[in-house]
Parts: sequence; structure tokens; C-alpha cells
Amino acid sequence: MQFWLNKEIALVVGGGIAACRVLDLIRGLKSQGAGVSVIGTPAATRFVTPLTFQAISGRPFHGDLFDPTLEGGMDHIRLAREADLVIIAPATADLMAKMAHGLANDLASAMLLARKGPILAAPAMNVAMWEHPATQRNVTTLARDGVIFCGPDSGSLACGEEGAGRLATVDTIIETARRLLEAKPLAGRQILLTAGPTREEIDPVRYVSNHSSGRMGWGIALAALRAGARVTLVHGPVHLPPPLGAQTIAVTSAREMYTAVIDLWEQHHASQTLDAAIMTAAVADFRPVARSPEKIKKNGSSSLSLELEANPDILLELGKRRLAANPDRRQPVIVGFAAETGAALKRGREKMARKKCDLLVINDLLEEGAGFGVATNRVTVLNHLGQEEVWPLMSKDAVGARLIQTITTLLTTPVNGGVT
Ligand code: PMT
Repeated sequence: MQFWLNKEIALVVGGGIAACRVLDLIRGLKSQGAGVSVIGTPAATRFVTPLTFQAISGRPFHGDLFDPTLEGGMDHIRLAREADLVIIAPATADLMAKMAHGLANDLASAMLLARKGPILAAPAMNVAMWEHPATQRNVTTLARDGVIFCGPDSGSLACGEEGAGRLATVDTIIETARRLLEAKPLAGRQILLTAGPTREEIDPVRYVSNHSSGRMGWGIALAALRAGARVTLVHGPVHLPPPLGAQTIAVTSAREMYTAVIDLWEQHHASQTLDAAIMTAAVADFRPVARSPEKIKKNGSSSLSLELEANPDILLELGKRRLAANPDRRQPVIVGFAAETGAALKRGREKMARKKCDLLVINDLLEEGAGFGVATNRVTVLNHLGQEEVWPLMSKDAVGARLIQTITTLLTTPVNGGVT
């Protein structure tokens, strides 16, 4: 909410059937606090009327380059200058062709030519039009001119054909717009993150696991991506769409997660390109000693004993490897989580000492609104100097954002205040 408050968006709507979906984009931006001024091409108003744009945006619609009621006739210049961001949705083939060639014969194209700040274009059109060499040439020209593209998505199109040409989703356009405007303190940095549960199979039907939903890890991934970092997310079985822009690696068991994380750690270690490893995953500590190849039958028995053995500890292993390679330095920064059920601080301190991480984020699963599944978390963060910070109950996205700020400080503060 806070981010979009008082941000000004000039939304240029091209003439395509996807213009109808732009109403949800206006609603989405407005609901988060942004002001939206709509500038439509003449063709756009054949799909959605000026009155509708006006009603949804709550502002006058701008469609006429030669509106005699406007003082000085400089609407295109004013709109181009006052907006924090210009979004074009749908960016039609015609509108992009005009932009690429610097044409300015209506309000929308004149405003785009007068624009000096960032422009985000979300194309939508028939697949043949999108793939046409002329459109692709124009896209390349516009990208070279600094226009940022979002989509198009692939799928079934309004014309009945299949392929690339669908307008990106409202959420994707808003998130891409946000990343264009956000400061990027972690630009060029690489973060390795784990999230979600692991599953340890008993037989083809059953498994041992836990209640982790992945939401805490997703919140951290989102914050890191917004801060400009590259994020590799190794995750167990979850029901969440991949975070926009993250490289994701799906695994099932703890051993698979261990292999994926250690491989990435070693690759990055060789090239010294890892800045932080954040282990949010709820890794199963134990797995069945043997997995039955067939479903275990009841055969009339009233109990079943399952023999378990310990899984490798990924966080512990990262701490060991860093110490062996780099005894004097805390880089990459290693962040662990601790899921406790009572005496959280005491157990967290022990865990931090044993696993040798720089930050430990403790959540007590017995506290209301904290831990598994829920959209919120209440955490205490221990740092490498032995200090503790109690954070209030917040959304997991907000915890992720604050944790990324803390890591950014560690990474960017010189030796005595930060990591050494
Ligand atoms: O996914 P959500 O539903 O949003 O829930 C979030 C969460 C509760 C899972 C998250 O906030 C959290 O606490 N994650 C850590 C869960 C956990 O396994 O805690 P632990 O105290 O058992 O492990 C301590 C640390 O060692 C963790 O960083 C864990 O990733 C790591 N570990 C544990 C076991 C193991 N074999 N390998 C590990 O790397």
C-alpha cells in the first residue's frame, strides 16, 4: 500500500480488445494508492468509452490532442512530465510502430514522444501481428530507446488463435511497474534462498512432511527481487506461483534440497558470486530408513513402526563450508530460521551458535499469527554481534522486506559495523 501512495501513473490505452482488461489494472493501481490518468487512442475508445475510463479512474479522460477547453493545448506535455511512470496497456502493434518512428499525430503518441522518464509497455495483439518482423523490429527499437516490456503472455487469444499475444496479468504489470520505480540497493547481488517443506516418502502413497506453505520464503524472494537482487529459490512442494523474475528449482526431499543448494553454493563459491544464503525451508530432520516400493498394507495390524534416520543439515553444512574457505569473513552472509515451540529465544541462541549463521530469524509456532501457513509472522532476529531485535506482527511480505533491508545493511556497511 505504502509504496504506491501518491505515485502518479499515466496509463496509455491502445485500441485492442485487451483495453477491457485495463479497467482492472486501473482498479488495482488505485486500490494501492496510486493516481491514474488515462490517455486513450481514438481506437481505444471504440472498445471502452471515455465515460467508463473516467468512472473507474475517477479522473477526466484524455483523448484529444486539440481539446479547445484545455488552456494552452499542452495536455500531452503536462501528462508526460507529471507522471512517475507511463504504462502502455495494451501496447498495440500500431501504437508501438508509431512510437518506434517518432510519430505524434494524436494525444497518446504525442505524449509518448514528449516523455523523458520511464515507460512500461504491455503488448497485446494477435500472434501473427506480434511475430511479424515489422513488430519485432519496432520492439527492438523501443527496447533500445529504453522502453521496458512486460509480456505478452502466451495462451488462447481473443481472435481464437493460440500463441504469444495475451496482455500480461494485472498483478504482473503492477509488480513490474513497481520494480521499475523501486530503489535497487541489491543490484548485481545474488541471493540463494530455500523455502517450503520437504517430503520424505514412506511408500508410493505416504510421506513424512510438515505444514510449511512457502509463504515466508516467497515474501523474502519478492523483497530481494524488488531490491534488484538475482534470486535462486530452491523450494519443496508448495502451491504458490513462482515469484516473478526468480530462478526456481523445485525439489521434493531433504536430500534433493541439500544437493541442489550445495551444488549452487559450490558454483557460486568458484566464481565468488554469492552474496547471501537464506535458509527459510522447513527441512524434514528425519526420513524413513527405507522407502517401501509398494504401498504398505495393513494386514490386520493395529500399529506400524517407522524407523527414521537423520537428514543432512543444509544450513550447518553451509556454515562449515564458509568457515573452511574463508575463516575471517562473513561472506556470503548466512541467514537461518528457527521454528520453535516455546523457549524460542534460548533455543534460537543455541541454534545460532551451533549452525554458525550471521542472522537467525526465530518464530515461535505457538504464537498467534506466527509460523506455518498464515500470511503473517512475528519474529525475533538475532545478529552476529549477539544482539536481538523483536519485530512486531507483520505480513510475511513485510518481514521479508525488513529482513532484506537488514541483509543489505550487512552487505553494504564497512567492516566494523557490518560483516567482515
Ligand atoms: O512456509 P511458511 O508456511 O510461510 O512457514 C514459515 C516457516 C515457519 C517454515 C519459517 O518461518 C521457518 O521457521 N523456517 C525454518 C523451519 C525449520 O526447519 O526450522 P528448524 O529450527 O528446524 O531449522 C533451523 C534452520 O536449519 C532452518 O534455517 C532450516 O532451513 C535449517 N535446516 C534444518 C534442518 C535441515 N536438515 N537442514 C537445514 O538446513
